[in-house]
Amino acid sequence: MFAQEKVAAISIRDARKTYEGGTEALRGVSLEILPGQVTALLGRSGCGKTTLLNLCGAMDFPTSGEVVVAGRVTSSLGDAELTALRRREIGFVFQFFQLLPSLTALENVELPLLLAGAKNTEATAMERLRWVELEGKARSLPTQLSGGQMQRVAIARALVHDPKILVADEPTGNLDTVSGDAVLKLIRRAASELGAAVVMATHSVEAAAIAETKVRMRDGRIESIER
Ligand SMILES: Nc1ncnc2c1ncn2[C@@H]1O[C@H](COP(=O)(O)OP(=O)(O)OP(=O)(O)O)[C@@H](O)[C@H]1O
Ligand SMILES: [Mg+2]
Repeated sequence: MFAQEKVAAISIRDARKTYEGGTEALRGVSLEILPGQVTALLGRSGCGKTTLLNLCGAMDFPTSGEVVVAGRVTSSLGDAELTALRRREIGFVFQFFQLLPSLTALENVELPLLLAGAKNTEATAMERLRWVELEGKARSLPTQLSGGQMQRVAIARALVHDPKILVADEPTGNLDTVSGDAVLKLIRRAASELGAAVVMATHSVEAAAIAETKVRMRDGRIESIER
């Protein structure tokens, strides 16, 4: 038997990103993001973590080089294909949760399924809320939840469509240690239990500790990769 190599969920090949105005946010980054693993992007403010995450989530494109997400070269896709790629294959979690304030927890989780034209949306959303142990808050509005609970709802929303990829930008950046730990456990389980390729930017030592792969960035480049 040959050892089977895992196929990367995201392959980044010599990606450079220069913003309008001339900032070189990425200066030649190559990286493979593997399924079933958490990959942490570490490094000082301004080193390019969010820029790299935006490329991983097909929210932005390299100025040169190539980013392959779930087998598709992102810069070759049209708008409709990009929307489909994001809706089917990618979930997003942000520092400030970004829940819709007028929707209940359940409706927030259900929304991506409705947008994708899925069936059984409410039952599926409820199942994911149960997975983050918040089925009891299904009818609550975001303002009625704690920060940690809001982030758990955001994680349920990000994972409701079983994406191959979970992109998380400072997911514990706005949380106390106890809430942050609960969120990190869920992110860990997204990789271990659901098989997602998780890529997470973080300044937190606790968050970095759940990652199999730690990528240290500096001035738009990868300084080291620790597996
Ligand atoms: N939309 C933009 N337009 C122009 N410059 C930008 C834009 N977004 C980021 N930059 C610049 O690109 C560089 C990298 O920024 P980025 O947000 O990727 O850093 P980061 O590592 O995520 O930082 P932080 O830890 O503070 O979140 C910085 O110099 C930043 O000022
Ligand atoms: Mg950032």
